[in-house]
Amino acid sequence: MNIVVQSGDALHDPWELAVVFGFVNESLPDPVAGLIESADFTGKANQTALVYPKGALAAKRLLLVGLGERASVDAERLRQATATAIRQIRTLQVADVAVGFPDDIAIDGAAAGQATAEGLLLGAYRYLLHRTGMPTDETFEVASVTIVVSGDAAAVAAGVEAGSVIGRATCLARDLVNCPPDRKTPPLLADEAVALGERMPSISVTVFDENRLAAEGFGGIIAVGKGSDSPPRFIIMEYGAQLKDVPTICLVGKGLTFDSGGLNIKTAEGMETMKNDMGGSAAVFGVMHAVAGLGLPLHVVGLVPSAENMPSGRSYRPGDIVTSLSGKTIEILNTDAEGRVILSDALHYAQRYEPAAIIEFSTLTGAVIIALGNVASAVMATDQALADALLAAAVSSNDRAWQLPLWEEYHEMVKSDIADLKNLAGRAAGSITAGAFLSAFVGDYAFAHLDIAGTAWLDAPKKPYHSKGGTGSGVRLVTEFLRHYGN
Ligand code: BES
Ligand code: MN
Ligand code: ZN
Repeated sequence: MNIVVQSGDALHDPWELAVVFGFVNESLPDPVAGLIESADFTGKANQTALVYPKGALAAKRLLLVGLGERASVDAERLRQATATAIRQIRTLQVADVAVGFPDDIAIDGAAAGQATAEGLLLGAYRYLLHRTGMPTDETFEVASVTIVVSGDAAAVAAGVEAGSVIGRATCLARDLVNCPPDRKTPPLLADEAVALGERMPSISVTVFDENRLAAEGFGGIIAVGKGSDSPPRFIIMEYGAQLKDVPTICLVGKGLTFDSGGLNIKTAEGMETMKNDMGGSAAVFGVMHAVAGLGLPLHVVGLVPSAENMPSGRSYRPGDIVTSLSGKTIEILNTDAEGRVILSDALHYAQRYEPAAIIEFSTLTGAVIIALGNVASAVMATDQALADALLAAAVSSNDRAWQLPLWEEYHEMVKSDIADLKNLAGRAAGSITAGAFLSAFVGDYAFAHLDIAGTAWLDAPKKPYHSKGGTGSGVRLVTEFLRHYGN
């Protein structure tokens, strides 16, 4: 979908369809009010009404979309409203659409433009790659949306530009999560990174294969990956290395392309959606795309340890002791707690960039779903200023997150009697002990762990801009964080 911004009045030109927003407790603008019974459209959030003006307006069709009370319109409401609109418009198979940008709302033009573009792109998202023989009315996509602004079009255009980049970045993460696991084995996931680097030349990509991982001592990635016929990979995506005097941020993402549990095999039900266990890496791909697309003044390094966790005669076992890249030893007590094992190598590797912050994403624990449901990601951090900045970005992007503590008591719980750490600490505080385990591999660097196990995937979409399956959670949040980094 192409999204453009122009100055003018959406009701004046002969569009196939114009979208006009309505507000609770307000009458519709003059020519529109006469076209519909006021009781039929009250302007409440996400309410819609389709009107055929029959010459009373230049537009052939008018889609009214409610934004609630004007004074309380925020970015999230606009994101939802534009997502609602695009879904309805698509069923009408209209190729070119105008959206009348709302005036006099409480947020500024750039924030509103960004939310509008995000809503359009996320609302239109579908994963149809493997459906065949679909009728064209079911595959129809709106080719172009023109956002028509009566006020300051420049601010709105800048916001739309940013929102388009962030929306596309989120859709990239969704595509990767939705991709079937046989088509995104670690070597194929690495190919996706190379392809991203080709699309965005400001991102350079390096891939370590299994031989290099073994030779350099990536013991965690090798251990988890060795049960699979698809060998593991370590993917490095780097943006902004040539920029002077900019902070370095490392992003680390769990790239478990399929988590069967290994020898501690999961139940059928528990395994069904485990292609999403690379959701953390998908978020890293998405944020890298966004950082490059926005041209942010930062040095950003994306690190993805990627493996497939499978049971076989070559699998790692409960009882094994794994020496991670850091030299620290890990007692394996459950092969299904594999995420922290591969991440230990990647987090240690991140230290060589001497980053101002390490932000790591992973679908790490089922326990986080018990704690926060599918509503919010969990944040754990060794640095409260970093946690606060991420929580603030979670609020403004509405890519929700909530903090859990990393107190000393939790670090005690992951110590092993016969190795430095153990990969299982029992059911109590399962998400936090996983975070405490990870924090043992970051040295003194400011570190934040985002457990996205509850948010990376939705069986039942909750908002108009969600679709079943991958959500791209973490992309809006961390992109928002990086855009404001240091300010
Ligand atoms: N990938 C899973 C966590 C997960 C669960 C993600 C549900 C998304 C939805 C992780 O590797 C795992 O299996 N965790 C175990 C850890 C346990 C063995 C300590 C869990 O949460 O049960
Ligand atoms: Mn697991
Ligand atoms: Zn896993």
